[in-house]
Formats: sequence, C-alpha cells, structure tokens
Amino acid sequence: MGGYGDVQLLRDDGLRLDGRKLDEMREVQIEAGVLPAADGSAWVKHGLNVAVCAVYGPMEAHPRKIQRQDRAVIDLRYNMAPFSTSDRIRPGFNRRSREISKVTAEALESVVLVERYPRSKIRVEIEILSAEAGTRCVGITAASVALADAGIPMRDMIVGVASGKVEDTVVLDLDKAEDNYGQADLPMGILPTTEEIAFLQMDGDLSVEEFNLCMEYNMKAAKEIHEIQMDALRRRYESKNGGA
Ligand code: CDP
Repeated sequence: MGGYGDVQLLRDDGLRLDGRKLDEMREVQIEAGVLPAADGSAWVKHGLNVAVCAVYGPMEAHPRKIQRQDRAVIDLRYNMAPFSTSDRIRPGFNRRSREISKVTAEALESVVLVERYPRSKIRVEIEILSAEAGTRCVGITAASVALADAGIPMRDMIVGVASGKVEDTVVLDLDKAEDNYGQADLPMGILPTTEEIAFLQMDGDLSVEEFNLCMEYNMKAAKEIHEIQMDALRRRYESKNGGA
C-alpha cells in the first residue's frame, strides 16, 4: 500500500490496467485433494496467486503447552516460497508471515468446531507458490477447502477476499500494482452462508461509504468463490467415490 498518487491505475476508458471492471475479481480456480500425504489439501489459483494448503489431524497437541483442555488448537504456518515473487524471498519465518499465520489461525478457529476435539491440534500448512497480492486471502480460501477435504466439521466455509481504493475509486480484488500503489486495502474472511466476518484487516483510509462499498464487493465475490470451492469439493467427493 504505497499510496503514490502519481501512478495511473485506472485507464482512460474507466477499466483497470489488466482490463477488469471495478467490481470484477480475478479468475479463481480450485482443486481439492491434491496432496496424497495430507489428510486434506487444496490448490487455489487466484489471478496469478497460487497457494497450496495441507491439513493434518486432528491429532494429539504437542508440545503440551499448546494444548487446550476444552478444544482443538489450529497450528498454522503461512509461508511464501522463495520463488513466489520476482525478488527472491528470504526463506523462513518473518514478522509478516507470523502475523498472517496468527490472524488466519484465529479466523479458522472461529469456523471449525474446535470444541469437538479437546487437547488436539489441527495442523494447517499454507504455502504460497506464486504471489500477486491478496495471498492472505487466497490462503484462507485454500485452508477452508483443505479442512473440508480432511472431513473436519465446520459451521460454514470461509472465503478470503479483498477490496480497496485506487485513484479515489473502490475496486474489488486488488492486483499487485493496485496493492502497491493504491490508497487502501480491506482483506476479509467471510462466511458465505451466514455473511459473518471472521477476519478483517484494513490498510489505508476509507470513508464510511467507501468501506460499505468494499463490504458489498467482498460479499458478492465471497459468494462466487464459495461456489468454486463447493464445485472443487464435489469433484473430489465424486472421484473418491468412483465417479459421478
Ligand atoms: O499478499 P497480501 O496482499 O495478503 O499481503 P501484503 O503484505 O499486502 O503483500 C502484497 C504483495 O506484495 C504480496 O502478495 C506479494 O506479491 C508482494 N510481496 C513481496 O513481493 N515480497 C514480500 N516479502 C511480501 C509481499
């Protein structure tokens, strides 16, 4: 979120640099069950972002100090692969990946029926293979498909999606240039059926009207992405059970 006012992000015809309309999201593709070694897994391509998520468990929580007597904990690691951006990323945990891991785990804990698995942990590994802005959102979308693929009960799916502001105009699903040079970014984790918000971060300034329009765009996109999640899970179910 650089906020450099001199970078043109909207074309003279009112479309965005990549040709999208203001309320148009990047193309989303999802596959469930892509990693044989995991209990559940998902692959998500969202624009040029690519994320893979693996879920293991529920299993006994180790080390014991992380155990909760009344529920499972979600032990989550978000990581950007060194080759995921044009500048090679220094491998390993950093402040940003710790923050994203924490907020993503909290969002997932609010949808997973964690009280069914006391003293256990559910391990969630999110690996960003290619990054083009919005990777925390793509990670959430992938994790919820992987959790469902692992058969872990949830109140609802959860979809990650962001809207923001560029050139004083609200746009859905910021790409890299819009994220870098835009004025605001509002990523959310949305429960598509109940329309509850399990996760929200805001970078930059939005007026109440702009915030409400971002919410409206995010809700609409969450429902579209939810359909793609459910199609992926249906295909996975059919292939596991001997075809449609
Ligand atoms: O990815 P997300 O929008 O959730 O998080 P961000 O911190 O706002 O990062 C925006 C984008 O900047 C990422 O998606 C990457 O494309 C890029 N980035 C990068 O190139 N190198 C980093 N160390 C971190 C982010």
